[in-house]
Formats: sequence, structure tokens, C-alpha cells
Amino acid sequence: MEKLNAATLQKIDEIVAKHVQEPGPTIVMLHDVQNELGYIPFEAMEKIAEACGSSVAEVYGVVMFYAQFTTEPKGKHVINVCLGTACYVKGGQKLIDQTIELTGAPVNGTSADGLFSLDATRCLGACGLAPVAVVDGKVIGAATDKNKLLNELKQIIAEEKGTAAA
Ligand code: FES
Repeated sequence: MEKLNAATLQKIDEIVAKHVQEPGPTIVMLHDVQNELGYIPFEAMEKIAEACGSSVAEVYGVVMFYAQFTTEPKGKHVINVCLGTACYVKGGQKLIDQTIELTGAPVNGTSADGLFSLDATRCLGACGLAPVAVVDGKVIGAATDKNKLLNELKQIIAEEKGTAAA
């Protein structure tokens, strides 16, 4: 496990200190850590457990229970592709394959350059728009039409290259 730098540890300490007096602080702390760092490192679970008088296992249980928490760092851009039945039938798997090829991010993992994370999800509740993908929170319906998802990703890649060159 990679060690966290001092600034990150301090950030976690600040979040813990900010919420420790509140009722039910564990979930609020986890929420803030996830927002701030993009994931919940083990050290954060230790600090939260200590501050809240619970065990690391209990905090870990909370992290595992809620889908919005992750224990792995996410890429800068997060892609969700729905593999629920309606989306699968309409080409969800093809979207996944194309996304892997374009970004290098494996399913439920992050690309080596840290730019993209790819998650295959269950039904997102928008089956009428199948196949559905979500990129950085933006819903893309009928994502295979005119390569909508791929074009969105290509645009992000082009922008990132522009930023890198600037
Ligand atoms: S199956 Fe994809 S949104 Fe329902």
C-alpha cells in the first residue's frame, strides 16, 4: 500500500476534527473524504474509527455498504456503462469493449495514465435511453448512436492533451 503524503493526512485530520462532535459522524466524514480525495484510503478509515470509537472493521463495513464510497483511487474522469438487461441487449457490452480500447481502463479499474476509470453498472433506471453511459455525471443515452460515447471520450482525450501541451 502506498503511503499517503503529509498534506493528505492533514486533510483527513481536518475532516475528522470538523465532524467529530456531530451526531452519526462516521458517514459524514466518509462522505467528505470521498469528495476530497476521490476515494477512502485505509488510513482515513483508521482515523475515523479512532475518532468515533468504533473499529476499523465497522467503518470498512460502512464503506462497503454504500456504492458511492470506493477504496481505490478513481481516474480523473469516471465512466459508467450500464450492463443492465435493456442496455446489454442494445449494445452495452460493445460500449464497454470500445471504451477499454480507447481509454485503456479495464472494467472496474483505472487506466495506467490515471485519466479514466471504467465501471460496469447495473440498471441505472433509464432503460428507455438504452444503451446508457454516464461520463463524469453526464448521462449519455442511446450511446451507440453515432458513436456518442466514443466521441465524448475522444473529446475529453483531446482536451486533456491540450491541457498537457499548454
Ligand atoms: S438497463 Fe441500463 S438503464 Fe436500465
